[in-house]
Amino acid sequence: MIYQSVSRKSEASPIPLTRKAAYGAPQRTREVGGAGTACIRTFGCQMNVHDSDRMRRMIRDAGYAEVDAYEDADMVILNTCYVRENAVDRVRGHLGELVRLKREGRVKKVALTGCIGAAEESRELQDQYGIDLVLGTHNTYELAEFVGLPTMAETFTPELPGTEGETSAFITIMTGCNYQCSYCIVPSVRGRMICRPLENVVDEVERLVASGTSYVTLLGQTVDAWRDPSGDGKRFCDLLERVADVAPRVWFTTSHPSNMEDRTLRAIGEKPTIVTRLHLPVQSGSDRMLKIMHRGYKAERYRRKIEVFRENVPGGTLSTDIIVGHPGETERDHEETLKLVEDCGFDSAYVFKFSPRRGTEAAQMGEDVPPDLAQRRFMQVLRAIEQGAFERNQRKVGNEEEIYIRHGRAEGGKAIGETWSGHAVHVATSKATSVSPGDYVRARIESAGPHVLYAGEPIA
Ligand code: 5AD
Ligand code: SF4
Repeated sequence: MIYQSVSRKSEASPIPLTRKAAYGAPQRTREVGGAGTACIRTFGCQMNVHDSDRMRRMIRDAGYAEVDAYEDADMVILNTCYVRENAVDRVRGHLGELVRLKREGRVKKVALTGCIGAAEESRELQDQYGIDLVLGTHNTYELAEFVGLPTMAETFTPELPGTEGETSAFITIMTGCNYQCSYCIVPSVRGRMICRPLENVVDEVERLVASGTSYVTLLGQTVDAWRDPSGDGKRFCDLLERVADVAPRVWFTTSHPSNMEDRTLRAIGEKPTIVTRLHLPVQSGSDRMLKIMHRGYKAERYRRKIEVFRENVPGGTLSTDIIVGHPGETERDHEETLKLVEDCGFDSAYVFKFSPRRGTEAAQMGEDVPPDLAQRRFMQVLRAIEQGAFERNQRKVGNEEEIYIRHGRAEGGKAIGETWSGHAVHVATSKATSVSPGDYVRARIESAGPHVLYAGEPIA
């Protein structure tokens, strides 16, 4: 049975926890091509997933067939993340493996792209692992020449079209970041903020929707800082409202609390096509730490934003990012973070242990938090988040939800989807029920864990 309808959110429910792009996850399966075979591995955030999609199109245009395994590839592209040190360690593991495969004559060329490619450390890696091509985040178009396509001049990367004909698509509306958070490498690898014109974004959304896309995610490091580059005063909320009038389902990430306007929060509740999930990184609950981090807001302002969200988006889900163990963090600061976690009722959070990044202010601060203390604080924050999320999820059991299917056939005969509040749901399917990406189904939530809801078979 196929369930397909253009749907509007009716009732919102808590809990997201769809994961950010999996580290090192293969992205697509085998296809046929004439120039050889290529494998793209993506590490890190949705921006990287999107950049990989664009590189994927280049390699396809150049006649490469895409493969999943390094062993089957003539060319490997590692599109990397640099936000935390363990991201680099992971990539080193992959590079070591590729050196071996090159020595055995299987892999011929390796390209390193993305945020590590834009950082100083990439030169070291290039020498150590004999990488053939290193590209940063602003010159991915140079991959074209590397794969044998005519060189393209690219002035603004997001001008490249999105992934047409797919049920869901990412749309980059701004790149870079104008903040200077003490711990963060992003401004130095992605550069300052560049915003894409509103009409250009809306045109792309219209094209995508006409080609069958039913879910668009607006992307940017500080997506809510978007301003129309024409200087006409249009702000993120104007763009979001326009996109929400065109696309059947819309989400956006990542927001910055200093840019988050009440009007945007109200729009999430009012516009029937906007997924009622807000990802708003707080980083710490302590004003002292927020100042040291140069976040530009106090915990009170964050709390107020959450109040406005809760008032205007009943049943919406809230997720955040938290860093524990930033240099100078005291036990009192940590307790304030735990208090904020309790007060805000997050449905999920990405909790990170501070990782010193060369060239950032925090890496030179001193006052390091000892690793065992950082680990204890990490576990405490994580447990507080999971416990709260688990309790809220339990309250969903028995509810009937409208679910947007993201993957039709997943492991164990389950389909994977999300509610209108962006909460991940595994849906039972059988031979009698086949669902495809982009379908909407109704199903009853039968059980829940801290991260995922489990639904029975779709109700006819
Ligand atoms: N150490 C730990 N976490 C970090 N993040 C960014 N830089 C660091 C760092 N040096 C986290 C922040 C950000 C998320 C994408 O990654 O929480 O919101
Ligand atoms: Fe990094 Fe801060 Fe910019 Fe986010 S807002 S990308 S944490 S500098």
